Amino acid sequence: MLALRSASRSTASRVGLRLKSTKVAVLGASGGIGQPLALLCKLSENIDEVACYDVAPVLPGVAADLSHCPTGAKITGHLPSSGAWPPTHDKGLEAAVSGADVIVIPAGVPRKPGMTRDDLFNTNAGIVKTLVEGCGKFAPDAVLAIISNPVNSTVPIAAEVLKKLGVYNKNKLCGVTTLDVCRANTFLAANQGKHPKEIVTVIGGHAGITILPLLSQVPGTTLSAADRDALTHRIQFGGDEVVKAKAGGGSATLSMAYAGYLFTEGVIKGLKGESVTQCAYVESSLTEARFFASPCKFGKGGVEEVLPFGELSAYEKGWFDKMLPELKAQIKKGEDFANQ
Ligand code: NAI
Repeated sequence: MLALRSASRSTASRVGLRLKSTKVAVLGASGGIGQPLALLCKLSENIDEVACYDVAPVLPGVAADLSHCPTGAKITGHLPSSGAWPPTHDKGLEAAVSGADVIVIPAGVPRKPGMTRDDLFNTNAGIVKTLVEGCGKFAPDAVLAIISNPVNSTVPIAAEVLKKLGVYNKNKLCGVTTLDVCRANTFLAANQGKHPKEIVTVIGGHAGITILPLLSQVPGTTLSAADRDALTHRIQFGGDEVVKAKAGGGSATLSMAYAGYLFTEGVIKGLKGESVTQCAYVESSLTEARFFASPCKFGKGGVEEVLPFGELSAYEKGWFDKMLPELKAQIKKGEDFANQ
């Protein structure tokens, strides 16, 4: 990997090209998701700098640890500057996000058994609001990828915060729903006795019944009604399997880090000029819900097109109708919080 990287860099310098370096900031980088996500970014051929930011005192150690991996990406570590308030005075956050192309935010608390994602709202809404204020001030052009739950509400919070700062660009704000797509691909492949492939489109939101996998659209797959029902339920509530199995130790971290990395790579490839299609929770007018996870075409400007998700089966339409009021209420909750 290293050899390839230096070969392409030296070829570029021989022909006099200047490659723009790509910076990713991870906010919440000491956490269960943040650490492996930062590691995967450190290994990426497409990323030149990974800035790690967290309020936990272990952060400089995490950054030092990552920096010993012999790959090309530079690692920097940042704690908040002491006594920095409001967040727009935080020199640590400023250093982490300034110049970033993509800012991934997995900061916040995870679920414990019996909790819904909405139960995290009281803690995580404030964390996301604070961090996004800093992003809007110090990195208004970056693509923001929000992982912190409840995503259905934290993305609307981010949008309202950025709007107030006068820097909201709906093409550069995404909720990360890639883990739902990963689970859909994995569970469907297991059901079919096949190797997982990237084939399932998952729309809606990122919580329980707002997650809607479009299994009817998977080419070459016919499911019995019982399998379809069981798979849909497992994809919607797959996160609960992990929360339960971790028995109080948190929620999905490793699969989420993988999914967050896949999403970040897709965004970066788009920024570099490739056309990449992947699902994300973004603002669109496709449905009555202001934010809706849909397949999106990513390019140099972030989300370049939100693609229509095609015809739903009667079964999927049933879930779609059930989901919309719930999703709209969760969006409103986020908007109201940001505007109170
Ligand atoms: P964790 O508790 O292991 O890590 C969270 C990190 O955020 C900690 O290191 C903490 O110090 C840091 N943090 C807290 N406040 C901060 C602030 N103001 N600024 C910077 N850092 C701050 O939690 P984990 O497991 O990494 O989960 C993080 C979030 O991701 C949770 O809200 C969880 O629900 C969500 N999640 C989202 C998924 C998705 O598909 N979008 C899937 C799985 C989890």
